[in-house]
Amino acid sequence: MSELIEVLTKDGTYSLRSEFFQENFHSSLGALEETKIKFTNPSHLKRFKGKSLNVLDICFGLGYNSASLLNELIKQESYLNLYALEIDKKPLEYSLRSKSFLKLWVPKVQEIFESLYRNDYFEDQFFKCGVLWGDAREEINTIPSGIKFDLIYLDGFSPQKCPHVWTLEFLSKVTEKLNPRGYLITYSSSAAVRKTLRNLGLEIFNIKPLFNDKTCWSKGTIAIAKFEKNNLKSNFNFEKLSIMEEEHLLTKASIPYRDRDLNSSKDDIIKKRLDEQLFSNLGSSKEWRKKWGMTKSASKG
Ligand SMILES: C[S@@+](CC[C@H](N)C(=O)[O-])C[C@H]1O[C@@H](n2cnc3c(N)ncnc32)[C@H](O)[C@@H]1O
Repeated sequence: MSELIEVLTKDGTYSLRSEFFQENFHSSLGALEETKIKFTNPSHLKRFKGKSLNVLDICFGLGYNSASLLNELIKQESYLNLYALEIDKKPLEYSLRSKSFLKLWVPKVQEIFESLYRNDYFEDQFFKCGVLWGDAREEINTIPSGIKFDLIYLDGFSPQKCPHVWTLEFLSKVTEKLNPRGYLITYSSSAAVRKTLRNLGLEIFNIKPLFNDKTCWSKGTIAIAKFEKNNLKSNFNFEKLSIMEEEHLLTKASIPYRDRDLNSSKDDIIKKRLDEQLFSNLGSSKEWRKKWGMTKSASKG
């Protein structure tokens, strides 16, 4: 599966490129920056100071999202129950060999990652962490059904490159595991992903970019089952979808990826969606882009 090439990103941190998926693990702007802006900051971790939380990290990869989470929680003495899903052990092996990766975090992160690599598990007074190695579509079933997550990070390769982790059927399993007030956080602002999450009963919000322009109108999506609207504060880094984004969800781009038995190949999932788009009466996303003067949407790469 893995043919991985080292990539230096613009914030000076290292990432990987997968030849198999033909995509980088992180935006070329910065691996650490992407983790902070798209996952750690929107998690509002201060809420859990001195308290306990459950987190699911889907597509653990090099472990930037979990490492950054652990780094913050260690400092504020939270108690964490972390599950990670990942198909390939090589990115974690790379992280453990990379001095520049390890020095981004407090030393305990290395201790936890070494234990995850050797034993798939780490436990001490504050943290219980485990990686379930294998296809996330199967491994998600091994998480005890009683566990509901306060945070779910979804960081797969983009839907066109790795549709398996963005289908209606997989996202349905993921949302079942979300605490009613939990946040499902992803870098993706794909109309298909957003519409699917909304159809599954979640409220969706846009992760605000620092500077909004036509090439970068989103840093991702947060989906929440029960969100009290009055709680949406102006200092939050997420906001309700704009009219432009709502209109995106009315185009053919919003047609979901489907994987009925959760074992389809990439080509089957993509082809089924293309067929559905062909017969759909929804407007084209090309017209939507033209109307809003859009050049490209936010994605990895
Ligand atoms: C964009 S990278 C993840 C970036 C990651 N969060 C990090 O910090 O490096 C996507 C990851 O998804 C994994 N992956 C791809 N398909 C998967 C599947 N079906 N189940 C579980 N993991 C998968 C890849 O091996 C890769 O490590």
